Amino acid sequence: MTRGSDPTVRIARAPGRVNLIGDHTDYTGGLVLPMAVDRWTEIRFVGGTADVHLVSADEAEPVTLPLSIDDPTTARPAWGKYVAGVISEMRPAVGIDGVISTTIPIGGGMSSSHALEVAVALALGFRGTVIELAQLTQRAENRASGVPTGIMDQLSIAAGVAGHALVIDCGALTVDPVPMPDDVDVVVQFVAHRTLVGSAYSDRVAECAAAEREIGPLREATPDDASRITDDRIRRRALHVVTENQRVRDFAAALARHDLATAGELMVGSHESLRDLYETSTPQMDAAVAALMRRPGVHGARMTGGGFGGCVVALTERGALDDGWIVHPVDGARLVDDDA
Ligand code: GLA
Repeated sequence: MTRGSDPTVRIARAPGRVNLIGDHTDYTGGLVLPMAVDRWTEIRFVGGTADVHLVSADEAEPVTLPLSIDDPTTARPAWGKYVAGVISEMRPAVGIDGVISTTIPIGGGMSSSHALEVAVALALGFRGTVIELAQLTQRAENRASGVPTGIMDQLSIAAGVAGHALVIDCGALTVDPVPMPDDVDVVVQFVAHRTLVGSAYSDRVAECAAAEREIGPLREATPDDASRITDDRIRRRALHVVTENQRVRDFAAALARHDLATAGELMVGSHESLRDLYETSTPQMDAAVAALMRRPGVHGARMTGGGFGGCVVALTERGALDDGWIVHPVDGARLVDDDA
């Protein structure tokens, strides 16, 4: 699959994402505020083949998979599980032969694996809404990884809007773009590689379910409701989720009135809540946030994404930092013409 100017060659392109605020809320139908960012995974492919054959510039071994897969976890090599997850959900009639390349740092906390899943779904001919695309690739991810992750990553990648962050209600599945101010940078700093497989992510999902058995849906709960929970650990988890949902609302309002100081304080509050109540931060992430907050021109900083490693994100004055990845909000995933 090397015919660069062949009109039958198509490109599926999916961006990475960074979450500005609202972590560990999506799987209880809460609020998140991510943006799709200007790093992309691309698949150049031809369709109509009898199986799925993909070569990746970043992986030693290619993936060759049939069009019908029951258990994606058996796919080899390991990166093929993400492809297999999508195939198992889509059951496509025809395959693709393609080459993958990416500018998303792999394992760097910007959702490189989710971008791959969304790009594979588009290349395999997915037709539907961005919500349906996100739901399908979330199911694919859950089956492939065995981790019950929420819908934030796939939905930000599918529904991104250039120049905007997204207020996503993960219960109602609504996406409201909010303009990002022109006079800020969003800077992502890598802290440590991590995988949510084998992490306490699944424990957190179970702890939220326990909280909901006691006080009902967390997306509708108040801090007072959460404070009534008898078990100390479950109460702290619930308090994080409930206060984080409110921080997302407050952050969106602060951005809208260009109150960057308040937006920054809310990011730090989110980090402290994830560190102290939800216990998904690490000493290195805490140190990275503290170091960022000492730098001139930094409005706010926090861990972002699943935690237990990964990366931190800062909202800064333009040009305040030159270490890390400065990212910009872009449109969501799509099929593009070969010459685009
Ligand atoms: C990971 C998951 C998301 C979300 C975040 C935490 O990125 O894939 O669904 O739960 O962690 O906000």
